[in-house]
Amino acid sequence: MRVVFATKNRGKVKEAQEKLKMFGVEVIPIDEVAQVKPPEETGETFCENAYQKAVYYAEKIKLPVIAEDSGLEVEALGGKPGVYSSRFAGEKATDQENNLKLIEELRKKGLESSPARYVSFIFLAFPERYGLWSEGEVKGKVVTEPRGTGGFGYDPLFIPEGYSRTMAELPLNEKNRISHRGKALEKLLKAILDIRKL
Ligand code: IMP
Repeated sequence: MRVVFATKNRGKVKEAQEKLKMFGVEVIPIDEVAQVKPPEETGETFCENAYQKAVYYAEKIKLPVIAEDSGLEVEALGGKPGVYSSRFAGEKATDQENNLKLIEELRKKGLESSPARYVSFIFLAFPERYGLWSEGEVKGKVVTEPRGTGGFGYDPLFIPEGYSRTMAELPLNEKNRISHRGKALEKLLKAILDIRKL
């Protein structure tokens, strides 16, 4: 089975390919299939954003499309950056700028860490206008001292529950086993297998 993944984030593509290849599912990034202008991300929840992107692209390219919306919710910041995770330090902010902003916000509050969680919401839309969804989360904490070079985004600042290493210090297969996106992808696979049985 081949699925198009509607994202420009190479980190997410790599994770999905690594996770799904053992089930015989090939993940293809959308820009290798078609050049489609991205929709505006107007949703206020991960669910809305994933749904909007998946349906939009599936209708445009007439193929099954997976879209994912994810982010980091930091308790001490009232759940921020949340759906604005990729734009925390501004519209075109880099991962490094977003990380610096997060460190700054925590320090402003006199904190060196805070409980946090990553959330992932995935929607698989078929051009015939039906779809499947799944979600996943990983709890942990964020710290103000970055460590590690793996993963992407806030990984150098995020320590999963039960670990002393940051997500950026874990090998990709281990991140995938415990991560929000890894769990959401697994649930999505189960849902695909279930509907195949019907
Ligand atoms: P999206 O592409 O709009 O879903 O934005 C996701 C953003 O959330 C990324 O740009 C990162 O800032 C953050 N994020 C989501 N998942 C992860 C992860 O696994 N590691 C680190 N940061 C993540």
